[in-house]
Amino acid sequence: MPEAFRFTKRDIFVKKMTARAHLSSPRIKVKTVHREIPPRNGEHFAMNQKVMRVQRRWNLPITPDYLVPEAWINGLPSGVHSNFLALLARDVWSEGDSRPLYDYIQSRKGEMSPDFLSMLELWLQDELKHYEAMRRCFHAISGVGYDEMDAFFVERTHEVEPIKAVLRDEFTILVALAFDELGSTMSYRRDVDEYYRFYPPGIEAIGRNLFADEGVHFGNAIALLKQHHQSRLGEVKATLEEIIRLEAELGRYTKTFFLDHAQEINRFPSYFNERIVAKILGCLGLAAHPANMSALWMWRPEGCERVPIAMDPAWSGRLVSSATSSPQ
Ligand SMILES: [Fe+2]
Ligand SMILES: [Fe+2]
Repeated sequence: MPEAFRFTKRDIFVKKMTARAHLSSPRIKVKTVHREIPPRNGEHFAMNQKVMRVQRRWNLPITPDYLVPEAWINGLPSGVHSNFLALLARDVWSEGDSRPLYDYIQSRKGEMSPDFLSMLELWLQDELKHYEAMRRCFHAISGVGYDEMDAFFVERTHEVEPIKAVLRDEFTILVALAFDELGSTMSYRRDVDEYYRFYPPGIEAIGRNLFADEGVHFGNAIALLKQHHQSRLGEVKATLEEIIRLEAELGRYTKTFFLDHAQEINRFPSYFNERIVAKILGCLGLAAHPANMSALWMWRPEGCERVPIAMDPAWSGRLVSSATSSPQ
């Protein structure tokens, strides 16, 4: 089979993520660019290589004014609603933080490749859609108004300076993106299992679309690393270790999209970062693929059906249904 028509591991990953989203008819936009690849290792042939940027297409399944019926909320298993409120009060905003990160990268766009910049356009569209989707979910389960959410969001400060070490160039940004998006895929997969699946179909569909999209973003970052940064793939492991060190040193989320897993440290097993690194190295062909990635989102602390989430103090007084009940 000609090289250009073989399925890569990334193609299969994208297909799997889409299939797992259980969507009725997901539409995937694929932009394909054909490039002549120069001969390698003395082999005197040239081949077309597909350079793909993929974006899933889906519409927001709930309207801005949708509210989950009170009877539905009253029928939820104990702890689901209070924890989901706490989760969204904390997590809605990082999707919106894609904008300041995008703006920062745009301010240095002269250093970036056209393929990277065009991927970034699709990425921003998705992340802002995720932001709106999560705002609608938050409104639907809490009744919090959009004006209040907007006021909360604009009060937050987006700090680029503390994470500048991971924004050195296109290569380190892509490594950070791969790390972040794979972590988000696992995180949203966990959220679907713990929360979204208990809610009406429109809410559940949002959760499934979120994790499917993050899987595609991960795949796009991996593809660009392979296509544009082959000569630096040997630096990936050290760059990931640097990112993990920085995240641990900061111990907080600086509200510029990257390194937001600092706030999720208690939701994952201790081997989370190690397995994320192994998966990235596996996808880049630098190591064997790790087994059992699903253990990352299926893990629960001893004796808990879901990982307890502390309510952000900034929201605890504002929500009608408090998140103080038992997480189990
Ligand atoms: Fe997202
Ligand atoms: Fe993403």
